[in-house]
Amino acid sequence: MSKKLVTSALPYANGALHLGHLAGAYLPADIYVRYLRLRGEDVVWVCGSDEHGAAITIRAKKEGITPQDIIEKYHALNKNTFEQFGISFDMYHRTSAEIHHETAREFFTKLYERGDQFIEKTNEQYYDAEYNQFLADRFIKGICPTCGYEEAYGDQCENCGSTLSPEELIEPVSTLSGNKPEKKETTHWYFDLKKHEKWLKEWIENGTLDGEPHHDPKAWKNHVVGQCKSWLDAEEGLLPRAITRDLDWGIKVPLPQADGKVLYVWFDAPIGYISATKAWAEQNGKNWEDYWKGDDAELIHFIGKDNIVFHCIIFPAMLKAYGDFKLPTNVPANQFLNFEGDKFSKSRGWGIEQHEYLEEFKDFPNKEDALRYALTRNMPENRDADFKWDEFVEFHDKELVGNLGNYLNRILVLTHKYFDGKVPASDVDLTEKYADILHLTASLAKRIELFDFKQAVNRLMEISSWGNTYLQDVSPWKIYKENPDSEEIAECMYVSLQVVTLLSALCAPFIPFTSEKIRNLLNLPALQNGDLNDILENLGAGKPLIDAGHSVNKPELLFAQINDRKDDSRKQIIERQKEKLVAILAQKAAEEAAKFKPVKPEISFEDFTKLDIRTGKITAAEPIKKADKLLKLTVDLGGQTRTVVSGIALQFKPEEVVGQQVAVLLNLAPRKMRGVLSEGMILMAENKEGKLSFVQSDEGFGEGLEVR
Ligand code: MF3
Ligand code: ZN
Repeated sequence: MSKKLVTSALPYANGALHLGHLAGAYLPADIYVRYLRLRGEDVVWVCGSDEHGAAITIRAKKEGITPQDIIEKYHALNKNTFEQFGISFDMYHRTSAEIHHETAREFFTKLYERGDQFIEKTNEQYYDAEYNQFLADRFIKGICPTCGYEEAYGDQCENCGSTLSPEELIEPVSTLSGNKPEKKETTHWYFDLKKHEKWLKEWIENGTLDGEPHHDPKAWKNHVVGQCKSWLDAEEGLLPRAITRDLDWGIKVPLPQADGKVLYVWFDAPIGYISATKAWAEQNGKNWEDYWKGDDAELIHFIGKDNIVFHCIIFPAMLKAYGDFKLPTNVPANQFLNFEGDKFSKSRGWGIEQHEYLEEFKDFPNKEDALRYALTRNMPENRDADFKWDEFVEFHDKELVGNLGNYLNRILVLTHKYFDGKVPASDVDLTEKYADILHLTASLAKRIELFDFKQAVNRLMEISSWGNTYLQDVSPWKIYKENPDSEEIAECMYVSLQVVTLLSALCAPFIPFTSEKIRNLLNLPALQNGDLNDILENLGAGKPLIDAGHSVNKPELLFAQINDRKDDSRKQIIERQKEKLVAILAQKAAEEAAKFKPVKPEISFEDFTKLDIRTGKITAAEPIKKADKLLKLTVDLGGQTRTVVSGIALQFKPEEVVGQQVAVLLNLAPRKMRGVLSEGMILMAENKEGKLSFVQSDEGFGEGLEVR
């Protein structure tokens, strides 16, 4: 049997995680791994805190605490929050652990000693003299050369997502002192990616490695392959990447000449997957190498799309350069989840963090699964998705309550009513009854294996719908009135109890708390690894999943309706969330309004009506001698023409403005400029950069019309 090593991106231990993180790299992996375990696969899932990097040291400086304080706080918070949501890592490690430092140093040393992997370069880099600090990554800010965003960092623009180096920033400033940085010489080591370009291209594009088939390239998501290709096909190819930094927080570069330098966080963090596996193996008496290097070892990385290049290009190149590591067979990266139409933003308070959700929804029954379900239904698998509270309510009330919860409840109630809580006996042909759900079950499994969790969870609800429809079609309560001893009642309940038993197992990867509750209500043992194989086998063979004579418990609600006329407490929780957003939007609008200051004193309506503004069209334009800013324009006002001198010559050539629609102020006292009499004024708008734009009515609207 193959050994599967599954990883989820190590979250930085410098902040709480929001719902977008959960939907991106943790929930999908949890569904996948829980499913594999139920299929009896040999799978290990590792994750942990990413505890290095500039963001952590900057935050510590700002708050006057140590980086250690920060990572202790957020490692504990994130680990605990994941546990509460049932995110079932086999190991949640941390990169501050000694075994990780050792592993990362050894990795660096091995590549260094190969001699051909690293380039040592000394050059000038930005430096903040006040703080004695070289300015890489988040220590430096400036204008993004790609999109013009003013707060772009030295490693990345958070507005357009482009990867940057500090030298590319326009008007750079130190984020420490706010000063303009100086330049100073420093030495660093660069990973020579050019050497890996050729095989990476073949590996990504054709799924071949060293001439052998490695994976099915069509099994990778389009957006993942697309992003890799755009890196690999870039004109300059793969550039060497600096893998060391001048910092005092991180893993010391294991070279005598590298005092005061640490490994770049993106060099050590993915190695964290290896150290986490080592830690897991040690605790469980296993051999970590079986999962990373074994012939039957398979590696799968769950990440968000901002991490694609690191997991599909750089880390694979590191693994290959080291030798005898397996490369990932798939990297099912997700796109981003937005929140109510906008990006999650901590500073604006837009969005909700995982631990906040748990707090706000503490009195909401089965809150963990309610959220897991909503996030799965709307997972950003192939394109960005948007989390909306209204949709959360709809998924909850219609699907979890209305479909699944209701179904289980009806079956348990009827089993108690007709059969004293015991599964009745029936000699019905289950093979025939199973036909539809067998098909849906196979499809659900396939969809999970293809990382298509959204479709998979739809199959789950379709099986539950099938059960509801079947029950309704038979309507045992009608038969009961005529003939309470009818065989048909026993048959219907027998079949239905098989379906709910199936659902108790199939829902486990998605909504594990609910699965446990259903198992308890059905008085069945907790699911064990491999149990789904037995269930699928019995289903395929037309055998029962729950035996006649087995006693089930009295029903209890799995989920409680949000839109409930008798009890609006859950609805109030949702309303509170929406109100917070309305308040944020109102505050933003107020701030915008405050910024929009009138530039001139107030005038009366009478004053305004004194202006005679008309629509017009420029019919001729010529330069004016010795006045490089002025154009002499002839303007058609519908029946009459006027000459207007306009100061637009620096931005518009005469031939460009002929035919242009304009608005003209006509009753401005005529003025002579450079010997030309100007009989009006063209209205222009000017933007921040001083660029001019004509104020105009639509083409063909008419000339000489009054503007009021
Ligand atoms: N900490 C990184 C982030 O949150 C992810 C690191 S993933 C790993 O974006 F591969 F480096 F571990
Ligand atoms: Zn940008």
